[in-house]
Amino acid sequence: MSTTKHLKHLKNLKIDEVDENLEEFKETVDDFYPAFVGTTIVSVIILGIFLTRLYIRWSVHCNSKVNMRGKTVIITGGNTGLGKSTATDLAKRGARVVLGCRDKVKGEAVARSIRKKVNNQNVTCLKLDLANQRSIRDFVTEFNEKERELSVLINNAAYMGPKSSTSEGIERCFGVNYLGHFYLTWLLQDKLRKSAPSRIINVTSDCYAQGKLDFDDLAMTKSYTMYGAYCRSKLAMLIFTQECHRHFFSGIIFSYAVHPGACSTDLLRNWPGLTGNILRAAARVLFKTPEQGAQTIVHCAIDDKIRGHSGKLFANCRQIKVQDFVRDKELGKKLWNVSLHLCGLDHEIIEDPEPDVAAASASEVPDGATAAAREAEKPSEVKPSKLSAPAPQAQPAAQAGE
Ligand SMILES: NC(=O)c1ccc[n+]([C@@H]2O[C@H](COP(=O)([O-])OP(=O)(O)OC[C@H]3O[C@@H](n4cnc5c(N)ncnc54)[C@H](OP(=O)(O)O)[C@@H]3O)[C@@H](O)[C@H]2O)c1
Repeated sequence: MSTTKHLKHLKNLKIDEVDENLEEFKETVDDFYPAFVGTTIVSVIILGIFLTRLYIRWSVHCNSKVNMRGKTVIITGGNTGLGKSTATDLAKRGARVVLGCRDKVKGEAVARSIRKKVNNQNVTCLKLDLANQRSIRDFVTEFNEKERELSVLINNAAYMGPKSSTSEGIERCFGVNYLGHFYLTWLLQDKLRKSAPSRIINVTSDCYAQGKLDFDDLAMTKSYTMYGAYCRSKLAMLIFTQECHRHFFSGIIFSYAVHPGACSTDLLRNWPGLTGNILRAAARVLFKTPEQGAQTIVHCAIDDKIRGHSGKLFANCRQIKVQDFVRDKELGKKLWNVSLHLCGLDHEIIEDPEPDVAAASASEVPDGATAAAREAEKPSEVKPSKLSAPAPQAQPAAQAGE
């Protein structure tokens, strides 16, 4: 008898007939059991996926109506993913947006499409390859020739993938995601000072907590994993944000780190094999859209209420706590000096620096920011020597990449 017939039959039984039909009842339950278990498992999986998706994709929208007319913004890696979404949002608010892209043709096409989409003609692209220090210098030279001011520098571009190295022989994740941005920021610091109050935004990730900075093995010769190298670069970006605050805050340059959340972008494009395919498929289903991910970057670029939180990490448009080990000042100082060295700026290394705001609490200064910014705009405040960085020297083998 089919399962449905069994059921109909059982339904019509009188109570005193039940005992006699117990065997039949058991048989029916046995028939149903696998289907019941299967349905339950599938339902739990679907519910799990749904709840995980809800959790990962939960994002706060930046509701600020701030207009960016008259402000110039640089976004590295602005041709795709979060960079492109951030560029579109800021251009919509009237900003002059410069996309720093390693592929100029791709970048120009994206700039064109943003111009058309938001009806702002001031979106352009300059070539920038963060894996090549000469390209970074050329970018800064061209930018300085073309643009009078720089209100917001968004260090967004990133690489994640198999082991490789930059033109200077630095492990690529560290070199592109962190060191290239360090050098770019260093070269643009005077422009940022002149344009004060201005901002540096470093896009990092909450995976920084899994990163390990071993200064004796920056090339990761002992062990390399794609994720490990990526986490290390994001840890460096977070420490760098705190150091930017210490070094640049007195110039009324605010620094923020942003964790955008897990977003469906091209970041996993270099992850090889089946794992890569699975990760990319999962990302498409579960992760935030680039527009959602860009919200906190936009928030940190425009919101005036966060001035008292310079040097801090943001996620979902809110400041979040960082783990204690990140706040180690010695670690920050060491990273800063090693970075100067790797960029051929050894003459800038100060063993015991008196950082601009060593003891200043971020919340003490911002209200005076506008007045101080006016001061900063005076030509005498600008230190042109720092703009002209010398060509990088050959790297010591221990710190070089492959
Ligand atoms: N997606 C996430 O889930 C997630 C999570 C946390 C943090 N983040 C961070 O968010 C930021 C944006 O990433 P995304 O998700 O938007 O990734 P994406 O779509 O892969 O965009 C990365 C951008 O970086 C550029 N880039 C790579 N190497 C470069 C180089 N050598 N010089 C200049 N530009 C280079 C890429 O240019 P090409 O197109 O020419 O390669 C691309 O424009 C990154 O800092 C990333 O670490 C992302």
